[in-house]
Amino acid sequence: AINIYVEQESGERIELEAPLDMNLSVMEVLKANEFPVQAVCGGMAICATCHVEVLESGPLPEMNDDEAYMLETLPHATDSSRLSCQLRVNPELDGLVVRIMPEA
Ligand code: FES
Repeated sequence: AINIYVEQESGERIELEAPLDMNLSVMEVLKANEFPVQAVCGGMAICATCHVEVLESGPLPEMNDDEAYMLETLPHATDSSRLSCQLRVNPELDGLVVRIMPEA
């Protein structure tokens, strides 16, 4: 398993464990840990209710066109925004720090 961190408004970082052998997305890990991520579309990159800002990370997977297009439509998107459903848990994500954005 790897560790993922969710930064709270207070600046506190909550550590989550993400198994490597279940082919989960970061969105699914957030939901499993009861973070308020609606993920209405279930991971299809068409709802943006899994929007996170990446605060710290190693190399991230490239964005596909669907994700990039969705992010362009979001009022709170920043240069570090990602759709958490498009981030598959893999060893390179160990230590990822995200903030859950208002659209989620
Ligand atoms: Fe809908 Fe990620 S869950 S875009």
